Amino acid sequence: MAKEKIHFECSNCNHVSPKWLGVCPKCGEWNTFTEKREKKKSSKKHKVEISESDNSEVVRLSDVGTEHQERLSSNLDEFDRVLGGGFVDGSFTLLGGDPGIGKSTLMLQTAKNSPNLKILYIAGEESGAQIKQRAARIGLTGENLYISSNTDVQSVIHSARKLKPDLLVIDSIQTLFSDELTSLPGSIRQIRECSALLQQIAKKENITTLMIGHVTKEGDIAGPRILEHMVDTVLHFEGDKNHFYRLLRCIKNRFGPAQEVGVFEMNEGGLQEVTNPSELFLSDSDLEVSGNAIACVMEGTRPILVEVQALVSSSNYGTPQRTASGFDQRRLSLLIAVLEKRAGLHFGDQDVYLNVAGGLKITDPAADLAVISALSSSLKDQVVDKNTVYIGEVGLGGEIRNVSNVAQRIREAGKMGIQRALLPKSGTAVQNNIEINTAATISEFV
Ligand code: TYD
Ligand code: MG
Repeated sequence: MAKEKIHFECSNCNHVSPKWLGVCPKCGEWNTFTEKREKKKSSKKHKVEISESDNSEVVRLSDVGTEHQERLSSNLDEFDRVLGGGFVDGSFTLLGGDPGIGKSTLMLQTAKNSPNLKILYIAGEESGAQIKQRAARIGLTGENLYISSNTDVQSVIHSARKLKPDLLVIDSIQTLFSDELTSLPGSIRQIRECSALLQQIAKKENITTLMIGHVTKEGDIAGPRILEHMVDTVLHFEGDKNHFYRLLRCIKNRFGPAQEVGVFEMNEGGLQEVTNPSELFLSDSDLEVSGNAIACVMEGTRPILVEVQALVSSSNYGTPQRTASGFDQRRLSLLIAVLEKRAGLHFGDQDVYLNVAGGLKITDPAADLAVISALSSSLKDQVVDKNTVYIGEVGLGGEIRNVSNVAQRIREAGKMGIQRALLPKSGTAVQNNIEINTAATISEFV
């Protein structure tokens, strides 16, 4: 049943008030307010009727024509790889990442490497002069780059229609606004409305668009994931600000493989592509110390060799410390518990520090065996052979489990000059130049 809405109206000047008043605040008359009742319009239609006109169209899948998808290359191989071969014409992409990680730099670098692409860059965060300064740093003159600092979404669309760029870059979606809304730029409503308009223009007029978005502390692209379903591709630019490497990770891709990763290094001249990431994460020191072991983790479809370092030292406090950087702290505690229970090693009165070289964050369980090896090496103060790679997941029972892509990981190790590999018993792979050893349990291994 529709509800009734009650208000009071002054019979002298028609001033409306939600409650009854003795004096009208507008005209000053006494006792003029009378009650009015109004039926609230129900938002639901009670009866949906079947319309007589027929404008539906149903097509057999086999009769749907295949469109040839043109791809625009960014001329950065690592970027193209993550996109699945370049930007699809008319696609809508979201690039997220922490502030200062290098998102704007990546787009300027694309402009530099692709002088044939006409790029419209909506600069909501920096002035033209600041962009010019940065462009000079990476050696971009920018004949193909058009900059606008007007962040009203309607004028962005207007400029895009007029210029017809090959690529429209919005830096960032949090600075865009529509003046039809009262909320502030960066609010969820503004972000949603502006993105919806941009999406329409990308699809209807075939303007390839990339929006930059900052991430919140929780790691979501601000505007809690509302944008992710709207766009074709979601990319995440990540890295450690204290280190040089940056990973460009694909989280969703309607036009190619998701989970692909591109690796860059940030230095004075901007972002450099890293074609052999293992070099970046293996320390090249010849120092023979205990506690270091080499793991091979998969990032997307790429195997990367990385050095895991552990330091186990007697604890001075009641509760021993467990500190991990680049590795899940709870996983570290679990592996220590497995070593105690299944291999008889004692960490009860020892502080344990674990570090992954180069600032990489490891999530691949295949690194477990290298962590186990680094921990027991440091505890016993015995140096681990620098020429061995450790690959395997460790279970609660102390069993060493098989992992994916073993052959590919070993091939990468061979390429980097590693001579031996320690694998799970069931995961043997043949590789000519590498000596393969296996272990079924960690007690056998330790
Ligand atoms: P930026 O692209 O502005 O980050 P975002 O757009 O993601 O906020 O990157 C800025 C950082 O990169 C800044 O800390 C300086 C650094 N940087 C370099 O180290 N070398 C360079 O050549 C450039 C252009 C930036
Ligand atoms: Mg920026």
